[in-house]
Amino acid sequence: MKNFYLTTAIDYANGSPHLGHAYEKVLADVIARYKRLCGESVYFLTGLDEHGQKVQQSAKKAGVEPIAFCDEQAEKFISMCKLLDISNDDYIRTSQERHKKVVRQILQMLYDKGDIYKAEYKGFYSTRQEQFLQEKDRVDGKWPEIFGDVVEITESNYFFKIQQYQEWLVDYIKKNEDFIFPRFRAKQVMEFLKEPLNDLCISRPKERLEWGIELPFDSGYVTYVWFDALVNYISAIGYGTDEFSKNWPADFHVIGKDILVPPHSVYWPIMLHAAGIELPKSLLVHGWWMSSGEKMSKSLGNIVNPLDLVEKFGVDAFRYFLMREMNVGQDSDFSFDLFLTRYTSDLGNDLGNLLSRLLNMGKRYCASVVPSAKVEEEFEKQLIDLARETSQEVLRLYDGMQFHIGLEKTFAFIRAINRYAEQRAPWKLAKSEAEADKLALETTLANMAEALRVASVLIAPIMPNVSAKILTLLGLENIEKFEGNTEWSNVLEGKTLGAQEILFPRPTTE
Ligand code: MSP
Repeated sequence: MKNFYLTTAIDYANGSPHLGHAYEKVLADVIARYKRLCGESVYFLTGLDEHGQKVQQSAKKAGVEPIAFCDEQAEKFISMCKLLDISNDDYIRTSQERHKKVVRQILQMLYDKGDIYKAEYKGFYSTRQEQFLQEKDRVDGKWPEIFGDVVEITESNYFFKIQQYQEWLVDYIKKNEDFIFPRFRAKQVMEFLKEPLNDLCISRPKERLEWGIELPFDSGYVTYVWFDALVNYISAIGYGTDEFSKNWPADFHVIGKDILVPPHSVYWPIMLHAAGIELPKSLLVHGWWMSSGEKMSKSLGNIVNPLDLVEKFGVDAFRYFLMREMNVGQDSDFSFDLFLTRYTSDLGNDLGNLLSRLLNMGKRYCASVVPSAKVEEEFEKQLIDLARETSQEVLRLYDGMQFHIGLEKTFAFIRAINRYAEQRAPWKLAKSEAEADKLALETTLANMAEALRVASVLIAPIMPNVSAKILTLLGLENIEKFEGNTEWSNVLEGKTLGAQEILFPRPTTE
């Protein structure tokens, strides 16, 4: 059976990890964890994009070899993944031999097939930025200052004949509605494809760029960085070996909107098609976090890097915020105030309080052993119905990548559990000697526990640590067995509740 294969974009090694990188990894991780909960076997890949001009320059500036520079950067990006509890199965670096081998293989195949040719390229070149410019780079007819001296040069390069595949691609995107998600992003691609494609320049002469993968058919050149980077999705899973079909085709390439057109929606499908490889099933295109960093540093002064929030508030709170606030596909504004509100109200007041109330009352009224539910009156019926409706709806929403609404519904359910506790008021029932009140008290605690268990399962893909912690405090052992179970049940009956625990401590004011 093929794995559910999920990838993220591979981050550029020249920058530092930021909120955008973090979000994409968390989004992909949430999907991976959700699919695992649904019983699928998942293969999850992420990695680092290491070649190119910028990395070469940064390494030079730092006075080290590019590979030494990348090793250091890789450490930073990998530790970000660890900090965020990303459950990736592999981490590909484009400087690894396993990757370079496949890039050369694909290039050679396309060259032998006649899809790659050499030609002269004439254009404007910025020596300061070491890049070719286009007419659209001019401002008021002049080259902006940042480009320094701009000269017209002629250079020989290798080109990939992509124009001949344009019609096929347009047709493919039209026929395969699921290829680009959300669908509205496909319009941008179609718009781009209205103009005839230029064949893609896939080489850079070594005099200009050394830090890259040498072309197998001409040692004077290295491979253009996008052609190199995209291949990571197949090189990591053993293209050319028997292993490959265990994962390919990818179910989702999770990417940001800035790298949809043209790399992922034009170059990549054409590269694969030309090489006779099946296309990925879907490109999942997310939006951007806007004003990240700036707003926060203004409001808090000391926090500049959003990842610091993880250290201060815990990884699950950070993951919750990202998934709760971002409608996958749209942009979202990062605001520290909103983060704090979500933390104190949703997590602290709603979820944290519910747990601590339950543990508290459980200890006080039933020696921390979950009783059985003995009565089912209107309040109970409402709660159980809501649990069923919420689970079904949330799973459906997760299937459609609507994590923000899924969480909204789950937290509405959590608030309803708190309301149920207030309606039943165990603290009052405990004062009564009547048998009916004793049964109602036990029922209330049993139902609160079960409802909280269901809610914990629903938040598991987003907040894996908090979810596991709650399930453990509810007395479950081998929690993996229960992690996918959203059915209302009596699995908690007779279990021993854990000791009081504050899941979301109030932040200290600095
Ligand atoms: N190296 C290329 C991708 C090659 S994939 C074969 C690249 N790297 S990147 O570091 O610039 O971006 C990595 C991912 O982070 C991209 O999907 C990009 O869209 C995403 N983000 C970067 N900034 C972002 C935000 N502010 N918000 C959300 N995601 C954004 O592109």
